[in-house]
Amino acid sequence: MQKLLHMSKKNLAETIDPEKIPRHIAIIMDGNGRWAKMHGKARVFGHNNGVKSVRQITEAAAELGVEFLTLYAFSTENWNRPKFEVEALMLLLVETIKKEIEVLNKNNICLRTIGNIEGLPTLSRRALMKGIESTKNNTGLKLILALNYSGRDEILTMVRKIAQKIENKEITSAQLNETDIEANLYTAGMPAPELLIRTSGEYRLSNFLLWQVAYTEFYFSPIMWPDFNKDHFYEAILDYQSRERRFGKTSEQLQ
Ligand code: IPE
Ligand code: IPE
Ligand code: MG
Repeated sequence: MQKLLHMSKKNLAETIDPEKIPRHIAIIMDGNGRWAKMHGKARVFGHNNGVKSVRQITEAAAELGVEFLTLYAFSTENWNRPKFEVEALMLLLVETIKKEIEVLNKNNICLRTIGNIEGLPTLSRRALMKGIESTKNNTGLKLILALNYSGRDEILTMVRKIAQKIENKEITSAQLNETDIEANLYTAGMPAPELLIRTSGEYRLSNFLLWQVAYTEFYFSPIMWPDFNKDHFYEAILDYQSRERRFGKTSEQLQ
């Protein structure tokens, strides 16, 4: 039975077209709290168990040759949760980074963040900076954690930066284009995600990558994040590969 399961997993990964792997995959990791409740446990139990999914999906993405994996780990709105849950999440972040730095380096993975990192507690920020610093020369997968992230905040910050440039007369409003906007977002230098996955059966963006998802393919999975494994991830990629991305054109024009 174990062998059979192993076989089917291998086959699923093998059906993925290596020529059509998304360069950038973004994931809204949702459902930790409900998963814990289903197991008769407190919400934090779900967050702790979500870490193993992060590990598995990161490994799968690296194996497939995905260039950027962006994981929504904490939104600006998540500060409104009960204090002990927020504290547990911040602690989990510190512990996980400390534990995983070695694995990241071994797998040539480069850790990065998007979001308002200055707004994180000192301990979390320090652990994060250490992780980023020690993996910065790795040339494989870029693992981007969205922390204290808000898409609207990101847009507002970008507008402020550009307004400042206009005030300084470095640029005129008439010269402004989409490239200038992208260069002033947290995701500057990154391609837009081709695929966005949200787990737990919720169908919303929750303030994630508002500018960047203009032409992203969305994939919604009913699986709670702590149960989301490599096979689920492969299924999402296979679904993506079966789609026709028309970018406003007709199907015939793409032939
Ligand atoms: C996602 O799981 C993790 C974070 C938002 C940090 P949730 O904690 O949102 O789980 P549900 O949606 O309550 O089940
Ligand atoms: C979005 O999940 C944020 C993260 C996954 C970190 P939430 O569970 O916070 O989203 P809403 O509030 O239900 O939309
Ligand atoms: Mg949720």
